[in-house]
Amino acid sequence: MIGDILPDGVAAFDTFADHEAQLFPEEEALVAKAVDKRRREFTTGRHCARTALGLLGYPPAPVLPGPSREPTWPAGVVGSITHCKGYRAAAVGRTSAVRSIGIDAEPDAPTPPGVLDAVALPAELAMVEELRARHDGVSWDRLLFSAKETVYKAWFPLARAWLGFEDAEVTVHPDDGTFTARVLIDPPVVDGVPLDGFTGRWLAREGFVVTAIAVPALTT
Ligand SMILES: CC(C)(COP(=O)(O)OP(=O)(O)OC[C@H]1O[C@@H](n2cnc3c(N)ncnc32)[C@H](O)[C@@H]1OP(=O)(O)O)[C@@H](O)C(=O)NCCC(=O)NCCS
Repeated sequence: MIGDILPDGVAAFDTFADHEAQLFPEEEALVAKAVDKRRREFTTGRHCARTALGLLGYPPAPVLPGPSREPTWPAGVVGSITHCKGYRAAAVGRTSAVRSIGIDAEPDAPTPPGVLDAVALPAELAMVEELRARHDGVSWDRLLFSAKETVYKAWFPLARAWLGFEDAEVTVHPDDGTFTARVLIDPPVVDGVPLDGFTGRWLAREGFVVTAIAVPALTT
């Protein structure tokens, strides 16, 4: 499913079931004392990551978290992992094709009370209202939430800095399955380019909303 909203050159693997996959000892140590839910999402997430890396031609290797919990990838690779109840996915690409990837999945159901107000800017609240009024069948508040988390996952490996929910404004385009994000803080300049916005894609299918951003490599 997630592969349907990622460009050619990005390898993705997703699953609706948990896998009893083998963890590397360094990974095993990270979840040795974790509750069962965390252990299962972590293990299947690593299975997805290694399967996606295999599609790019990389042998199995540990995918360890960095200091801000971001997944770390083999040299020359970027990627992203997501998991929610009933769905796990990973996507990876070579840096020759993509500078950063963010993916997120959520159940296609309304966010719990209070969440939308906590994460949405006034313009985003208005947009969700309008989407609800005009287009049935998608939990637009949840889609906004997912898009914002995907923005963070694509942002972080480039900026190496925090980006709060109030720091970027997302616009969801209902008709073509895309969304855009405008960074509202002074954008960092990364590889000579201001990191001031993103374009992503979204999909509502099988009871989930999924969002993805693949930042293309810079052309010289
Ligand atoms: C990091 C965050 C986005 C994860 O989202 P989530 O819905 O909680 O969880 P998901 O299952 O979709 O994703 C979890 C995965 O995100 C990845 N992740 C965690 N921190 C990350 C970071 N700093 N950068 C990139 N990816 C990160 C990890 O791979 C993690 O899985 P793992 O711990 O099993 O390896 C979320 O916890 C968070 O901190 N959000 C606040 C920041 C934000 O969203 N800002 C919005 C800007 S508009």
